[in-house]
Amino acid sequence: MSAGNDRFSAQAAAWDRNPDVHRASESALQAILRARPDLVEGKGTASTSGLDVLEIGCGTGLLTLRLAPYVRSIVAVDAAQGMIDALQHKLDGLNSDLKDQISPVCVLLEDPEDPALPPADATSTDAKAAKTPRRKFDLAISHLVLHHIPDHPLLLKTLFGSLKSGGELALTDFENFGPEAKRFHPRGKMDGVEFHGIEAKLFAEQVRAAGFVSVDVRPAWTMEKAVERFPGDWDAGKPQDTSQLETMSFPFLLCRGRKP
Ligand SMILES: C[S@@+](CC[C@H](N)C(=O)[O-])C[C@H]1O[C@@H](n2cnc3c(N)ncnc32)[C@H](O)[C@@H]1O
Repeated sequence: MSAGNDRFSAQAAAWDRNPDVHRASESALQAILRARPDLVEGKGTASTSGLDVLEIGCGTGLLTLRLAPYVRSIVAVDAAQGMIDALQHKLDGLNSDLKDQISPVCVLLEDPEDPALPPADATSTDAKAAKTPRRKFDLAISHLVLHHIPDHPLLLKTLFGSLKSGGELALTDFENFGPEAKRFHPRGKMDGVEFHGIEAKLFAEQVRAAGFVSVDVRPAWTMEKAVERFPGDWDAGKPQDTSQLETMSFPFLLCRGRKP
């Protein structure tokens, strides 16, 4: 995991220059909005009722900033300090409510009571004390993160403990549809990749085993993406001439479940 952290911290400054990550985050937002028609733009702000969201692996906040206008708050967690700094830099430059709604936190979250999370009672004078209960959420999201996490049952246990009763998962990542799914990453970006996509059936079983109900794991959209023709083709950089690029279609899963 630390190799992955280093990789993502190093890539944070250049992350948003890749058009693929913007397209993928927009598709993830649309998939979540289709699944949750109760989310209406402008409905939630820091001061009103609305959903409190936990995002795992927020990166530079591409999905975070897109979803924020639809919810009350987002605690945006990432294990790489470089990513959290990049998100904080974006928030510092904003003049809107979004600034107050999004709380970036650098932590590898493996415990719903981790003191890095905000306290359940924001007025608590003892907010950082390890024993103070942490905030619980209505919705847990992640995008393009599951394939970097080695222990899905542990992650799901953590998310289960982080949600309120009735709270839901909406996790998106590319599907492991077979050996060709490996081509999602060029050879130079395999550091920190634990899985070449998510196996829908296996992941649904793991979500159920963690205690979630109404589990639904299925493809929600397809993304066309340029891929290396041969492993290592792009070691010296992706070709500028787009006519030289081979593209492939990658199905993306939306993984849902509800805490009873
Ligand atoms: C492929 S990036 C995706 C970032 C962002 N969601 C996006 O789509 O632009 C994966 C991110 O997950 C983070 N990450 C990986 N494992 C994590 C974990 N266990 N906890 C928190 N963040 C993690 C990495 O640091 C990295 O920023």
